[in-house]
Amino acid sequence: MLSLSLTGLDLKNPLMLAAGIMGTTGGSLKRVAEGGAGAVVTKSIGIKAKSGHYNPSMVEVDCGYLNAMGLPNPSYKNFQHEIDIAHEGGVPVIASIFGASADEFSEIAGSLRADAFELNVSCPHACGYGAQVGSDPALVEDITRAVKNATCAPVWVKLTPNVTDIKGIGLAAESGGADAVVAINTVRAMAIDIESGYPVLGNKFGGLSGMAIKPVAIKCVYDLYEALEIPVIGVGGISDWRDAVEFIMAGARAVQIGSAVGNNINIFNDVSSCMESFMEEKEWTLDDLYGTAHKI
Ligand code: FUM
Repeated sequence: MLSLSLTGLDLKNPLMLAAGIMGTTGGSLKRVAEGGAGAVVTKSIGIKAKSGHYNPSMVEVDCGYLNAMGLPNPSYKNFQHEIDIAHEGGVPVIASIFGASADEFSEIAGSLRADAFELNVSCPHACGYGAQVGSDPALVEDITRAVKNATCAPVWVKLTPNVTDIKGIGLAAESGGADAVVAINTVRAMAIDIESGYPVLGNKFGGLSGMAIKPVAIKCVYDLYEALEIPVIGVGGISDWRDAVEFIMAGARAVQIGSAVGNNINIFNDVSSCMESFMEEKEWTLDDLYGTAHKI
């Protein structure tokens, strides 16, 4: 009832692990796959091994989580083995990758074997990477085109909400040949410790995830659905099945869950079984839910 084909990948359900959570080892990705995810996305992987920003790099705030991890990763040269282990979970494994240029992105995509690539042009706190390249439509188009030329796997582009017009960036990805866009990455944010007066994060500022950003993400997905031909994958603040349904009604073909996995590693099974009961009761299919909010 929940199965679908997305950019040529067969998924048993439209629920995926988002990049950045439990995505550094093949073992943890496999564990999430076994907990019912339809696909899993790795932590973002770059050209060189990187230790990331100083701690604290992730803190809980009243309305979610603030992180400024700084793209820590072991380099793509040391990562194929983790993807291979993750495949034992029996679902598609999507490699999230980042780079400072089209050449860096295409070197990685041309070397790693994964079921799809998700281009991180949206991390809000990494100097020279992420949103610093992903806020420029011309660069997003070039990077996407270069990656499409480097791999036969589907290419998804993960967008930043920290721009005036996310549709313009989505259209640039589409023009570059993207198979899908993913919306949204975290919202630029910070917290200050009032005892010391210092910013809480080692990097001073970072990105907000969790329930607080869901309405922001819903609006971005809604706008992208109207503007683009390619599928939109929704992510941002999903904590239960109702949120997943809301994203699909906004125009997401599939969704990703990140922060909420920290509280419940079996969230994918929970969300899919509740979605199935809801859809059975309403006699709705995924296609009936898809984009409902636009039909009014
Ligand atoms: O810093 C990080 O590793 C986070 C990346 C992201 O937000 O895309």
